Amino acid sequence: MEPNDFRAEDGNWWRQAVVYQVYPRSFKDSNADGLGDVRGITSKVEYLATLGVDAIWLSPFYPSALADGGYDVADYRDVDPKLGTLADFDSMISECHQRGIRVFVDIVPNHSSDLHSWFQEALVSEPGSAARDRYIFRDGKGENGDLPPNDWPSHFGPSAWTRTTTSSGVPGQWYLHLFAPEQPDFNWDNTEVIEDFKHTIRFWSDRGVDGFRIDVAHALTKDMSEPYPKIRDFDVKRIPVDGSHHLFDRDQTLEIYRGWREIFNTYNPPRVAVAEASVPTRRRPRYSSPDTLGQAFNFDLMVMPWSAAKFKKSIDLNLDLAAKSGSSSTWVLSNHDVVRHASRYGLPSRTNYDTWLMSDGTSPAPDGELGLARARAATMLILALPGSTYLYQGEELGLPEVANLPAEALQDPMWMQYGMTRKGRDGCRVPLPWNQQGSSFGFGDNGAHLPQPDWFSDYSVEIQDGVMGSTLELYRSAIALRKKLQAAEDLTWVKSPRNTVHFSRPGGWHSFTNFGAKPVTLPAGTIILASAPVVDGKLPGNSTAWVTTA
Ligand code: GLC
Repeated sequence: MEPNDFRAEDGNWWRQAVVYQVYPRSFKDSNADGLGDVRGITSKVEYLATLGVDAIWLSPFYPSALADGGYDVADYRDVDPKLGTLADFDSMISECHQRGIRVFVDIVPNHSSDLHSWFQEALVSEPGSAARDRYIFRDGKGENGDLPPNDWPSHFGPSAWTRTTTSSGVPGQWYLHLFAPEQPDFNWDNTEVIEDFKHTIRFWSDRGVDGFRIDVAHALTKDMSEPYPKIRDFDVKRIPVDGSHHLFDRDQTLEIYRGWREIFNTYNPPRVAVAEASVPTRRRPRYSSPDTLGQAFNFDLMVMPWSAAKFKKSIDLNLDLAAKSGSSSTWVLSNHDVVRHASRYGLPSRTNYDTWLMSDGTSPAPDGELGLARARAATMLILALPGSTYLYQGEELGLPEVANLPAEALQDPMWMQYGMTRKGRDGCRVPLPWNQQGSSFGFGDNGAHLPQPDWFSDYSVEIQDGVMGSTLELYRSAIALRKKLQAAEDLTWVKSPRNTVHFSRPGGWHSFTNFGAKPVTLPAGTIILASAPVVDGKLPGNSTAWVTTA
């Protein structure tokens, strides 16, 4: 670390940070190949600084065949040549740090790409060899081993097993992949695997990375002993709370993170991490405690219907859980895996999004205006809460989901793995519109890897920049005000009418959300920001206002 580095000033910076997720392939293309890249990110650091975010989290930018949008990593310690070089990465991070923005990278420890040199080596090695032991290979069942070792599903399709073929074309062993066949699972009982990930964490920390987002943090160690249990699906509700699931949330996985924590703490400031852990809610603190990863995603609001009572209950529970582990809570409404919240909030709460996407977003038809109003209100609400807010690129523009991508454009492995019955997640990954016009609306000079609809123009940065009341300006104002107002991580509930949520933070900062449809009188004080125009002291339905009484 350089002397006088702003990063050394506050070891607790992450506790109430605004972290902006960049999905690199879809952020900004600098070399006209239709794919976003690292230089593209560098060219937009000024934009990120103006937005006011404390940090960015980059989804994987490592060498990858993009079988799962980069979550199939072929080399953990390099940049995909399609996206740039390590030198580009160094310039990007230095540019971010100069503007006071920290950088998180994504670590994908459950599985690699099938193109990773270790997996390629395993494929040409004998069953039982050291090379195969880094992954999870098993003999098949049935007379000739032509049945998979068990009938576990994968997250992306009907089977978690794929059979290998020897170099002479003879069918061989099977390997486990909880995601796509191009994503073989590591064997976390193997010490080489353990050591290699420590190496990776040091590698990026030495390059100045401030934090890590840990992908599928609840998987990693597995009990692969027979008899295999029946596993029908990966519904988190079916994960027992005693750590006895064969694939998820096992105690040994936390041991791995304790090892990582020792490494994080050798840096100044200590490197931070946030876990993507799909575990029963009350097990979450194990991942966010100071001796493991330090923070964990709370996706509860992402799946919560638009209801004052439900939001309130969830906020209480999560503040409580975070306090239990000594961490701060996280708040998330959108990311690269879910339908964008501006669309979700315009749909009935029981909508099955897979079915909705299969109807090209027509059945049911979303109410765009309502969706955007609620999205803006929900964002202001979470920005007023104690803890960290994770934003997903494009939500600051109020971007809806692109629900009608043509079949031939789809890239998500789910589409093929589910026999073209589930479109998957491409609709939230369409490249950003920077300009009103021009090739790919300013994303790049030569089209975009996922087609952008014409209406993207209306959501472009250019059209919203400097325009009072635009969603972009609302985000900028809210983030700037939050920075000024937030102090201790305390929240006090204030009694309020039905269908509303009202709380205050130290220093007289009040947040008031009207979940209902009718205007409601705002509490006394000075209105400092509102997601919709306040008329005669009344806040319209589906809106949030911040009021100070200081
Ligand atoms: C995480 C990522 C998702 C990816 C999966 C497998 O859930 O967020 O995008 O497909 O892990 O790596």
